[in-house]
Amino acid sequence: MKVLVCGGAGYIGSHTVKELLEQGYDVIVVDSLETGHKKAVDERAPLYVGNLSDESFLEDVFSKHSIDAVIDFAAYSLVGESVTEPAKYFENNIGGTLSLLKKMRKYNVKYIVFSSTAATYGEPEGIPILESDKTVPTNPYGESKLCVEKILHWFDEAYGTKYAVLRYFNAAGAHKSGTIGEDHFPESHLIPIILQTALGKREFIGIFGDDYATEDGTCIRDYIHVTDLAQAHILALEKTMEENKSRTYNLGNGKGFSVKEVVEMARKVTGKEIPAKIEPRRAGDPSVLIASSEKIIKELGWEPKYNTLEEIIASAWQWHQKHPNGYEDK
Ligand code: UFG
Repeated sequence: MKVLVCGGAGYIGSHTVKELLEQGYDVIVVDSLETGHKKAVDERAPLYVGNLSDESFLEDVFSKHSIDAVIDFAAYSLVGESVTEPAKYFENNIGGTLSLLKKMRKYNVKYIVFSSTAATYGEPEGIPILESDKTVPTNPYGESKLCVEKILHWFDEAYGTKYAVLRYFNAAGAHKSGTIGEDHFPESHLIPIILQTALGKREFIGIFGDDYATEDGTCIRDYIHVTDLAQAHILALEKTMEENKSRTYNLGNGKGFSVKEVVEMARKVTGKEIPAKIEPRRAGDPSVLIASSEKIIKELGWEPKYNTLEEIIASAWQWHQKHPNGYEDK
């Protein structure tokens, strides 16, 4: 079976490509390399460099390969940037996937797994968050993902395109081989920034606010290992095809850790001091985000292998130590 992975040179995409290959799938990758890394793409998967909005580029890919299903990670994903540049997010994240869906329809490709986010919920109405909770995004990034979720619904109604929407909580960690991992520019995510501090590349980790209504005053998040996320994509794709039925799942570990707890755990894992400073709150951060992943556990038998924050941080630490400058290192 041949799977097209859009955004396969990105963080979660590249880990999913590896898992697909390990499970015997034929994989082809499309990525603009605007934020992805050529070196992150497994050599066994051919890489086509281009943008999903480029119709003739997509035509070329679809005409060359007989594609059975698509997994779509291709998107801009910086929450803060989405607030200051909404047009960029709506144009790319909605326009790109819409163009992909139209091409899938032309070539009669009926199955897609779509990378969505906890940001579709906005301020949660309850903890843990259920898939049926209200979705009121508080930033254009989350809104752009929610718009695509709605487009998928209507494509299913009109053309029978079947989808699995996966709403990730906080993806973290790196592949066990230490060969691929997280490398964003600019880096904005908590765990890579903490580990860059452990490596001495930053002077301190700034903790964004310690006056939230949580036990230690810092924000609580649900961290999920990127390989567990990758496995979930494969399970979701298989079930969607087997049952010919669309679905939406949360993906988290169901456990929350505060920013201070994450810093403390990173000190334990790395054996480094990791200086921290309290800074003002970051705009738009909800105080607590924890997933209920009961639905995917029950329906797909998905089981996270990396159950503890310690294991997740240890795998990220392995990557950062080996690649202190990310993919720029040889
Ligand atoms: N944080 C700090 N200091 C930093 C970086 C982050 O204190 O230098 C805090 C944040 O304020 C937040 C927590 O660490 O409380 C986690 O922040 P991340 O930026 O790592 O992740 P977010 O929870 O903001 O974002 C994640 C995904 C997004 C997604 C969002 C949904 O990375 O793609 O969840 O709310 F949109």
